[in-house]
Amino acid sequence: MKQVGILTSGGDCPGLNAAIRGVCRAGQENYGMSFIGFRDGFRGLVQDQTMELESKALSGILTLGGTILGTSRDKPHRMLVSGKMCDMTEAAVETYHRHHLDALVCIGGGGTQKNALHLKKAGLKVITLPKTIDNDVPYTDVSFGFDTALAIAADAVDRLHSTAMSHHRVIVVEVMGHRAGWLALGAGIAGGADVILIPEIPYKVDAVAEAVLRRTRAGKKFSIIAVAEGAMSREQAKAVAKLAAAKEKARTKAKKREASDKLQKFHQEHLDHTVGLTQELQDITGMETRLTILGHLQRGGTPSAADRVLATRLGTSCAALLSEGTHGVMVAARGDGTEAVPLEKVVGGKKFVPPGHPWIEAAKRVGTCLGV
Ligand code: F6P
Repeated sequence: MKQVGILTSGGDCPGLNAAIRGVCRAGQENYGMSFIGFRDGFRGLVQDQTMELESKALSGILTLGGTILGTSRDKPHRMLVSGKMCDMTEAAVETYHRHHLDALVCIGGGGTQKNALHLKKAGLKVITLPKTIDNDVPYTDVSFGFDTALAIAADAVDRLHSTAMSHHRVIVVEVMGHRAGWLALGAGIAGGADVILIPEIPYKVDAVAEAVLRRTRAGKKFSIIAVAEGAMSREQAKAVAKLAAAKEKARTKAKKREASDKLQKFHQEHLDHTVGLTQELQDITGMETRLTILGHLQRGGTPSAADRVLATRLGTSCAALLSEGTHGVMVAARGDGTEAVPLEKVVGGKKFVPPGHPWIEAAKRVGTCLGV
């Protein structure tokens, strides 16, 4: 009988429990596997914090948001322990062997894929599932969590229309997505935003203001602007590209760390950029402008039917792959089926909105301003 460990890591999202249930139910019912859950991501593996995942524990979780296992952004190789950053890879490996595991399932986004590859290199048999509301994990058509978050964000854009219209205001709505703009673009299209700003298309503030003023001249006295949290003006994008190039060029380890710290600082300081953008737009247009940050609302609550189906498809395929002894791969969604993609291929990449993507073209065709 195969003994399999399972953990959820990174930011939570709707559909994680459906995925846990999918893997475990399929593994137990079809292949006689038994499962042990690790709490709070890789920290639970390092500290051997476990949870039984027998049949009763899996009942009633399909529709629950969040993750019954808990999660964290901890990395096994850089973990804060008693105030010190430590490499805890060995502890993770020891836990794996202590429980006589045949494999470890890691459910998460880009960071989780990286951590899983690290553990694979340390000798563990790992297999991963892609989740994230950002939909930016590469080599999968889609990640679970995205569909639910998209509906939440689109509903918010919908609701902001009536208040913006009543007050003749501009409302800037910040949508999650710090590197990729899938969520802002999708929610903006579905909610009928007048302007959509995404990280992949650096914007000109003047172009955004002009789009608002054009609407005013046409007798439309309000505007809704959907902005991804990682969207950038052209100037900001240039500054970040310079910092990234410096990191790329750095030859010594110390220089690389220095450049990387600078880049991280930039992104940290950029976190509240929508506050500045809102003020700038108010100054240029002379219209009352308000900001709504959707934040973690987008990650909460019940998963949509599409996310439950996707998580169940990926989870049950994962169990089938485990039964065949496959490991070192991410179980990706490909068309109606699934595909096992080597972790080496997935790690380090990101799925951005490509230029000319049909969603971009559709937004343009209905007259949405993309900030340029
Ligand atoms: O990666 C998913 C995500 O929800 C991003 O959209 C967002 O930038 C980030 O997580 C927020 O992370 P945290 O929950 O750690 O604040």
